[in-house]
Amino acid sequence: MVVLSKPAVIEHLSLVNNTLFHGVPLIDLSEPDSNSLLVKACREFGFFKVINHGVPTEFITKLESLAIQFFSLPLSEKEKAGPPDPCGYGNKKIGSNGDVGWIEYILLTTNTDSNYQKFTSIFGESQETFRCIVNGYVSSVKKMACKILEKLAEGLKIEPKNIFSKLVMDEESDSIFRLNHYPPCPDDQFKGRNLIGFGEHTDPQIISVLRSNNTSGLQVLLKDDNWISVPPDQNSFFINVGDSLQVMTNGMFKSVRHRVMANTSKSRISMIYFGGPPLCEKIVPLPSLMKGEDSLYKEFTWFEYKKSAYKLRLAENRLGRFEKLQPPCVNK
Ligand code: OGA
Ligand code: NI
Repeated sequence: MVVLSKPAVIEHLSLVNNTLFHGVPLIDLSEPDSNSLLVKACREFGFFKVINHGVPTEFITKLESLAIQFFSLPLSEKEKAGPPDPCGYGNKKIGSNGDVGWIEYILLTTNTDSNYQKFTSIFGESQETFRCIVNGYVSSVKKMACKILEKLAEGLKIEPKNIFSKLVMDEESDSIFRLNHYPPCPDDQFKGRNLIGFGEHTDPQIISVLRSNNTSGLQVLLKDDNWISVPPDQNSFFINVGDSLQVMTNGMFKSVRHRVMANTSKSRISMIYFGGPPLCEKIVPLPSLMKGEDSLYKEFTWFEYKKSAYKLRLAENRLGRFEKLQPPCVNK
């Protein structure tokens, strides 16, 4: 990967805390009390990790090898699968609003097969293998995401139990899948500075399922406004509440702000499934969760939100323009 000269990607944050945080909620999906623990984690953190997730290890290792194989190719080869929008290979640039990071990635939409055409000349004969491995992994992770969403509905005591999961299960679900590669960053060049791999943001969809190799870099912003470094765990999946789930729960669940810092010595590979609703779906708080409260958000469809969010920089409060103004507090 070419060394970046743009200062935009380098943060001189002496305050970045790289001490690993050991308080990320860990939830065993096979345990009977997992429903309420999931609800608690979504309310308090918007972020947690799961074990006994049911995704076969073989699917994970095969996909990781494939990702390593792809990202090891010469840049000129990888660029044959560019640009990344709506699917394909991207390098350094994230979105089209000036966000850049120490990253390269593959973006795939999950409900079309047109994805793979861009990879034909790269994978040749093994293109079919690429498609099978990605599809196998994505369908297994999607199943797990739906199980979590159903457990959340049960934990919240709302019906039907598939109230969230049906959006992700829908044939028209606008879900995406990303393979991110953060190459090691040359220490001599960035010594003492912190290099952003993926700038801070919240994920706009309903739920994100992340798995990474054994390299640190992921950080999340806690309620007290402190960034914490998440210890890598290649045997668990990390789950994020997305903006849409925050809205559907009228702000009860938190869409967590997160980012990735580049690592000086090791490559980070992450694979993220973003479960989203169909484009025409209205994203509104569920009446059964409102208990007489007003909605904190103006009504919008997923299409409207996506269009608006992707016009803004990653770090902006993309949900902000859909928040209703709250009347000022009256002190008694
Ligand atoms: C993302 C993201 C984290 C990672 O792609 O939205 O937050 O570890 N990625 O790559
Ligand atoms: Ni993200």
